[in-house]
Amino acid sequence: MTTIHELGAEQLRTRIAAELERTRARTAGLTAAVDDADLMRQHSPIMSPLVWDLAHVGNQEELWLVRDVGGREPVRRDIDDLYDAFKQPRRDRPALPLLPPAEARAYLATVRDKVHDLLDRVPFTDRPLVADGFAFGMIVQHEQQHDETMLATHQLRVGPPVLHAPDPPQPRVRVADEVLVPAGEFTMGTSTDPWALDNERPAHPVRLPAYVIDAAPVTNGRYREFIADGGYDDPRWWSEAGWAHRTEAGLTAPMHWRRDGDGWAYQRFGRWSPVRDDEPVVHVCWYEAQAYAAWAGKRLPTEAEWEKAARWDPATGRSRRYPWGDGEPTAEHANLGQRHLWPAPVGAYPAGASPLGVHQLIGDVWEWTSSPFRGYPGFAAFPYREYSEVFFGDDHRVLRGGSFGTDRAACRGTFRNWDYPIRRQIFSGFRCARDARPDESGR
Ligand code: AVJ
Ligand code: FE
Repeated sequence: MTTIHELGAEQLRTRIAAELERTRARTAGLTAAVDDADLMRQHSPIMSPLVWDLAHVGNQEELWLVRDVGGREPVRRDIDDLYDAFKQPRRDRPALPLLPPAEARAYLATVRDKVHDLLDRVPFTDRPLVADGFAFGMIVQHEQQHDETMLATHQLRVGPPVLHAPDPPQPRVRVADEVLVPAGEFTMGTSTDPWALDNERPAHPVRLPAYVIDAAPVTNGRYREFIADGGYDDPRWWSEAGWAHRTEAGLTAPMHWRRDGDGWAYQRFGRWSPVRDDEPVVHVCWYEAQAYAAWAGKRLPTEAEWEKAARWDPATGRSRRYPWGDGEPTAEHANLGQRHLWPAPVGAYPAGASPLGVHQLIGDVWEWTSSPFRGYPGFAAFPYREYSEVFFGDDHRVLRGGSFGTDRAACRGTFRNWDYPIRRQIFSGFRCARDARPDESGR
């Protein structure tokens, strides 16, 4: 597949239109699956009513594409404040005079018509907002990110199943436990990926000592050993803040798990089933991931360690877009895009492995890293500080790689997600890392 950068203007328009349509179909599916009362309801105080996400997606598209890129008159300036995430805390959103579902859908359609109209005419000049269609790519990614958030809201919803998808593929290969990544410099981040967001930029060299990283995300089977060994009751494995949270929140297992005879069951989109041991564990917070890693005698990887494992090509020394190369993800490479409703067992995606043999870095589960969310050296907020910069600091931890609920448009080797270390309603798992021993690193 040609990269966005290599397309002519007409081909770029066609690609953008296709991405917008594909994304809107997903949004429509997630919001058609439940009735109007359900769309207006708040399923958790940390989530928005689905109808808020819906109209917010349209409002961002209006702000950036209709008004800014297109220079057109506002469609609904009167609702800007309602759908401004910074003016409306999530817990207060159900009490707002939100557009009812039919009105929200009509609003999205009106905005989209104008976008198609301006997409036909816009010159893709050097203006950074429009060069290579960036603003359109940003809006596609924004809608896809809210679609994943809506999927997480569905997972919190109580009621019979309304979402359906085929089971993920079965394991095809046996995967090693760990992989050694040799010491040396690699390029982290990007200055050339046209639709990369501000926090992924710029490309910069990072030198790492040799380290060892798990060849796959930590599985339910392994995680169950931690539980069975009393991991949740032993403050030795937890940071001070983690132990305080574990105690206050009463954590005893991943979110959506319950005891089932001698074993465990989990609930996924309204269906209970026995926990499958060879799947990556999902719905754990950063504190749980950190405690598991300590119990296992390891640690979480830094963000740089995760990215080097995912992008560095030992044959050329170059950093690539994905573990398998620069080509777009397909169904053979990774469990992305809500094609399935849960993580695939370890070994299900041999075609997606990195040259060093690290599996399932992209898709399945977002992977917690040890790193706080910060700007790279030379970071410049673009096009607005509220996307990334206002979240920089010690409050958030970075997650990498995307989940089964992440669309390929919003996932790549450089993509950075972040959340509070207590959050676990997202599709979050992890893998472990450790320093290489001298005998391993060959020094
Ligand atoms: C990057 C997933 C943390 O959902 O809060 C959506 C993405 N930013 N609208 C979020 C986002 C503005 C963001 N995350
Ligand atoms: Fe948003």
